[in-house]
Amino acid sequence: MSEKKETVTLTDNSTGESIELPIIRPTNGIPTIDVRSLYSQLGYFTFDPGFVSTASCRSKITFLDGEQGILQYGGYPIEQLAEQSNYLEVCYLLLHGELPSAEEYAEFKNDITYHTALHEALKRFFSGFRRDAHPMAIMVGVVGALSAFYHKHKNLHDEDYRHKAVHRLIAKMPTIAAWSYRYANGLPFTYPQNHLGYAENFLHMTFSLPTEEYVPDPFFVKALDLIMILHADHEQNASTSTVRLAGSSESNPFASISAGIASLWGPAHGGANEAVIKMLVDIVESDNDVPYYINRAKDKEDRFRLMGFGHRVYKNHDPRATIIRETCHQLLEHVGKGSEYQELFDTAVEIERIALEDDYFVSRNLYPNVDFYSGIILLAMGIPLNMFTVIFAMSRSVGWISHWNEMINDPESKIGRPRQLYEGALPRDFVEIDQRS
Ligand code: CMC
Repeated sequence: MSEKKETVTLTDNSTGESIELPIIRPTNGIPTIDVRSLYSQLGYFTFDPGFVSTASCRSKITFLDGEQGILQYGGYPIEQLAEQSNYLEVCYLLLHGELPSAEEYAEFKNDITYHTALHEALKRFFSGFRRDAHPMAIMVGVVGALSAFYHKHKNLHDEDYRHKAVHRLIAKMPTIAAWSYRYANGLPFTYPQNHLGYAENFLHMTFSLPTEEYVPDPFFVKALDLIMILHADHEQNASTSTVRLAGSSESNPFASISAGIASLWGPAHGGANEAVIKMLVDIVESDNDVPYYINRAKDKEDRFRLMGFGHRVYKNHDPRATIIRETCHQLLEHVGKGSEYQELFDTAVEIERIALEDDYFVSRNLYPNVDFYSGIILLAMGIPLNMFTVIFAMSRSVGWISHWNEMINDPESKIGRPRQLYEGALPRDFVEIDQRS
């Protein structure tokens, strides 16, 4: 006996015409109305700026429940992955949908380790930038330039090509990220070391000097690995959707990733961690107290917002923020009480305390997001402010390429081509320039 198809009925009250639209049930989460036949059957588009109620694709990679503050990669809770896994293992999980066996992990780690070097010609791209260029601008350019190095044999439908592209991206991002910093600081480029782990290698390439041995603090290595796990994927956010849209025309994968980096840079997205620290420093250095800034954030005439607060999807709490707040606390203990960053942390805690008792924030479900505390951790590790979003990009690259890979493999996927609600002028005749009023 065939199961009865679930549908919703949509009626056009002006004509009385009705259509049945299928409901698609996900394995977990909100049911979705399939509106693909709406235009052909009823002659309407749907209007949803910012994709507030629109699922743009099917995906098996990450599950997020904003009402309950749940985040899972491949079904595994982020809290367990943060506690028990490591970044490279999480990369494998996002790419393959399963945790690796010991053998699979060793092979994957080896593939990543042996793709970290950059083509020597790519080095020259860095010197084309001004010394004061933002490292995110350098990332957009250099990752985009990878497309020139790996384009000749481009065949997106060849699994081997895609595998190599995936490994190359994950492996080369820390090298590109570290070199962006080295260039801006007039330091020689440091080559990756195959005996180092992923996070360790990034710290080595960023901070080591040719004149002395560099041994990264194991506490910092662990904190960075955790930050990378928490930022590795977040389903269809702005930058991931950008990568999918750019890649939907079957463009070069590295060029599509560079579009994602551009999207991430904005302060409403990945740029928020940098903006949080700027805000905290302003508050600490000003003569005004925390309630003054809370009032500014509530004032609709003032463009000031509490950076690191609020999220499009999380309306209860951001599980990543809960994990990272604790790590931030531990790290400050580790670097020593009374460190210069303690005041920033105390100010952040004070903002959180006051805001969470204030009706403005409570009624709008505005809670600290992952960026609220991550910046203090990075700062306490000696990472400069303008590298924060770069570290986010490095961590998220696995999410971007996993979604790109899923899209290329999806028989339902098409070139992304949204419709619009046109509100411009009606047709009219061209007027010669000397006759225009
Ligand atoms: N401070 C003060 N008011 C806020 C804030 C904030 N940080 N965030 C949202 N609101 C208010 C907003 O003014 C609006 O009020 P009203 O209903 O009276 O008009 C209401 O809350 C809903 O806000 P929205 O802008 O419609 O919500 P959104 O889902 O479009 O935006 C957001 C989400 C993250 C862009 C926004 O909360 C924001 O700008 N936060 C600060 C930037 C930030 O921390 N971004 C990092 C996001 S998490 C990391 C990532 O995913 O990249």
